[in-house]
Amino acid sequence: MNIHIYESEELLDEAAAGLIGGLVRLNPRAVLGLATGSTPVGIYRRLVRDYRAGLISFRDVTTFNLDEYVGLPADHPASYHTFMREHLFDHVDLPSDAAHLPNGAAADLDAECRRYEALIEAKGPIDLQILGIGSNGHIAFNEPAPELVPGVHVVELAESTRRANARFFDDPQDVPKHALTMGVGSILQARAILLVAKGKDKAEAIRRALKGPITTDCPASLLQLHPRVVCMLDQEAGELL
Ligand code: GLP
Repeated sequence: MNIHIYESEELLDEAAAGLIGGLVRLNPRAVLGLATGSTPVGIYRRLVRDYRAGLISFRDVTTFNLDEYVGLPADHPASYHTFMREHLFDHVDLPSDAAHLPNGAAADLDAECRRYEALIEAKGPIDLQILGIGSNGHIAFNEPAPELVPGVHVVELAESTRRANARFFDDPQDVPKHALTMGVGSILQARAILLVAKGKDKAEAIRRALKGPITTDCPASLLQLHPRVVCMLDQEAGELL
């Protein structure tokens, strides 16, 4: 695994945006796997900046997001659809029909999992999957558990994850209890993975993910099995390595 530790969040965001931008310039038809959460916000801001400067175009890019809350319609203020529109999609030339997320408001969630899985298979593989990490070691919404599911599935969110994500909702009670998520198998099928972590809250999860045993108790530890993972950390997230 390729591990880079940056002196500041700004340097990390520049490096990550540079990696993504470089890939898209080399392969304008790249398939990108996108993540939500606070971690990638600065990276998306730089991609928007570079698009506005004419340095990058998403015209022929396809994107797949990792996950979405069950029960939130796409236009809900805390949905991942809304997050992606606000931070990236509304500001670049990515065609709206090339930006894919699972539909958390689908009436038949099992059918929606199958649809999303088939779409990734048809349009993939994902060239670069961007990943954050939960402080409990989750990736996407694959929570620590005795068993993990490989494909797109419905998951019950850990209480710690609901608490961590409550900041995006008006009332902590409003955080959905379930989500649709790509499974660890879907993630590991990406050609390359960019794992990003910031802050001391992530230091222990990063230590377990990169240096600990491979275990479903820390879903991110499965990334040790992937041949092309780049890990970009700020100093706090990397302090236990
Ligand atoms: C969320 C998302 C993950 C994300 C993680 C960390 O719950 N489902 O994809 O990587 O938690 O979020 P943050 O970047 O806000 O710390």
